[in-house]
Amino acid sequence: MTSETLQKARDFEAQYGPHIPDSERPVFHVTPTIGWMNDPNGFSFYKGECHLFYQYHPYSNEWGPMHWGHLKTKDFIRWERLPAALAPDQDYDASGCFSGGAVELEDGRQLLLYTGVQRHHNAEGFLEDVQTQCVAIGDGLNYEKFGGNPILTAADLPEGGSSIDFRDPKVWRDTDGTFYAVIGNRTEDDSGAILLYRGIEDFKGEFVRTLDRSHNQYGRMWECPDFFPLDGKQLLFTSPQDMTPIGLEFHAGNGTLCLMGSYDPEKGFTRERVQAIDYGLDFYAPQTVLSPDGRRIMIAWMQNWDTAGAKPFHCRWFGQMTLPRELSVRNGRLYQTPVRELERYRGPAVVHNRILVSGETNLPGVQGRVLDMTVNICPAGKDSYRWFRLHVAKDGQNDTIIRYKPDESTLKIDRCRSGLPRDIVNTRSFLVRPQDGALKLRVILDRYSLEVFVNDGEEAASAVIYTRQEADAITFEADGQVLIDVEKYDLL
Ligand code: FRU
Repeated sequence: MTSETLQKARDFEAQYGPHIPDSERPVFHVTPTIGWMNDPNGFSFYKGECHLFYQYHPYSNEWGPMHWGHLKTKDFIRWERLPAALAPDQDYDASGCFSGGAVELEDGRQLLLYTGVQRHHNAEGFLEDVQTQCVAIGDGLNYEKFGGNPILTAADLPEGGSSIDFRDPKVWRDTDGTFYAVIGNRTEDDSGAILLYRGIEDFKGEFVRTLDRSHNQYGRMWECPDFFPLDGKQLLFTSPQDMTPIGLEFHAGNGTLCLMGSYDPEKGFTRERVQAIDYGLDFYAPQTVLSPDGRRIMIAWMQNWDTAGAKPFHCRWFGQMTLPRELSVRNGRLYQTPVRELERYRGPAVVHNRILVSGETNLPGVQGRVLDMTVNICPAGKDSYRWFRLHVAKDGQNDTIIRYKPDESTLKIDRCRSGLPRDIVNTRSFLVRPQDGALKLRVILDRYSLEVFVNDGEEAASAVIYTRQEADAITFEADGQVLIDVEKYDLL
């Protein structure tokens, strides 16, 4: 039965969602039907189609009592909007249906596992959450909350675990048929941990072990975990709150971590390496799915909590997802590339080879705001240049810059003049690894964002922009002399 709260949200989005013209949205990046969107939830295959849910407050462009919005896709590029799936309509989730996962059950039904939040004033008068894990069962469109909810509560936590911060279950069916979930938790030292549970198929959970802990080294509360094997390694993803930078590897505030290692069911997870997942300005709470053809595909909220207040005036939707990305592990590093289906939406190629750049120049046929462009940057001789800049979304007033400095091996994203109406963090630099002196950048633009993939996905950096669409110039600039190859495709 659809509750009154859910029906109200469905009526609201059906009435007002269509008022937002397609021209005011990105072309192939997911946005909410209307209102506010944050984390991706329940990114999973169900009856052969890929479903994506999201943290959703349809009634305003601000975060509010969380619902789950819903879409599905056949190719990760074109999305079909579906009615909202969950609303905060029970005692145990009255303050919000927080992030979670989805999985297809043996009997063909779809299970959603999410965090139910109840907010109350504690003994000191502070607002405090009680977070529990809850189940809803459905058919890919409508969902019934389980009568025995919540299925995991404070009683299921390991010693020292906080029930105030116990959230974001990611559920999957393992090769042995058991259904597992990883869940974020705050520990007694006030930092984060990821907990593993099993037995979700029986609408309950048995605590297996703590997979890894921050010990206050990599931020505090660890949100939105994911846990999966890839190319001979075991990967644990999490999005920590309150991180402090370590060199150029992490930035302050809400970050993302890829913990790479191995997993032994007897001994647990052994961490070998830690890296940020994305090095740009807007990326949080990624979730992955294993596609039927064996690819591990990731999607994330292309935003950051610290900058989410900077939105265009009167915008009727807020929040975008990244382009879904194929993941792989090579040379002990996480690689990400845009999902290959994107290539089907390319128009004719515009190609320029061995162009000498000295000063600033543009190239015939290279402009636009919805495109897929690869630029190879090579020195034109020994010590031939001090920096190279790729300018996009440019006109007399606006300019979004990707700058490479070979002496530092750093790439910098700069969106200081990209239509953002607030003085927020607008630049970020990170280390890259040129190969034989050359660097390869693949840049995806989709009206309100840029995503940069370095050296076939060795690093990725995402940022939203709000530059007016008429600003569509692209230029190439060097302090010194650089040889470039450019291959550009308009998309869709
Ligand atoms: C991460 C997060 C999650 C939570 C959700 C609430 O962005 O804080 O931990 O479930 O957002 O909307």
